[in-house]
Amino acid sequence: MKFTTLLAPVAILASTVAADAASIQTALDTINLSTLKLKNYVDTWNGKLLTVIPIVGESTSLLASINRGKQTAEESEELDTLGALGVGEKTSKLATSVNQTITTIITSKPKFDKLLLSPTILLNLKLEKKATEELNDVIISKIPELFRDFARSLSAPIIDSFDEAIETYKLF
Ligand SMILES: *[C@@H]1O[C@H](CO)[C@@H](O)[C@H](O)[C@H]1NC(C)=O
Ligand SMILES: *[C@@H]1O[C@H](CO)[C@@H](O)[C@H](O)[C@H]1NC(C)=O
Repeated sequence: MKFTTLLAPVAILASTVAADAASIQTALDTINLSTLKLKNYVDTWNGKLLTVIPIVGESTSLLASINRGKQTAEESEELDTLGALGVGEKTSKLATSVNQTITTIITSKPKFDKLLLSPTILLNLKLEKKATEELNDVIISKIPELFRDFARSLSAPIIDSFDEAIETYKLF
């Protein structure tokens, strides 16, 4: 058998891995976009009941995006170094968006309190945190062992942001 024939399956595997890394990165982009949309809705909310609907809607789509991301990661092959680095970079950028959005959610708590909506926000935050942890665990299981601690350090601030908001919203 020719050497190139022997290598063909390796090349196919490499391109599948690259495609899987790209799919996970796209999923993280979608989560990022939804996170920033949510920030924008909360930022511009006038504190009235009727206009809270887009916030609730976006919060629901965010949860769905996180769960879809988890499914994408579950279906992915083990990532190579390049894929792991790409996903790591997205995660660290996502942490910035999450920090900004959750900061906005925390400072807007008095408005949610006034409409007795804070327990609903708290529930959403808890669901989103749980989904994020699950997504994280799946991604970490798909990257080379050498990078796992580093990957955990990149996603830790995201979980910290959720914990900060959950602590604040618990006090109602
Ligand atoms: C999230 O979106 C912002 C604004 O478009 C962008 O600057 C940032 O790089 C994005 N982060 C990710 C993880 O794509
Ligand atoms: C956002 O990041 C800053 C700087 O690291 C940190 O002090 C703050 O607690 C974070 N806030 C949230 C809600 O994650």
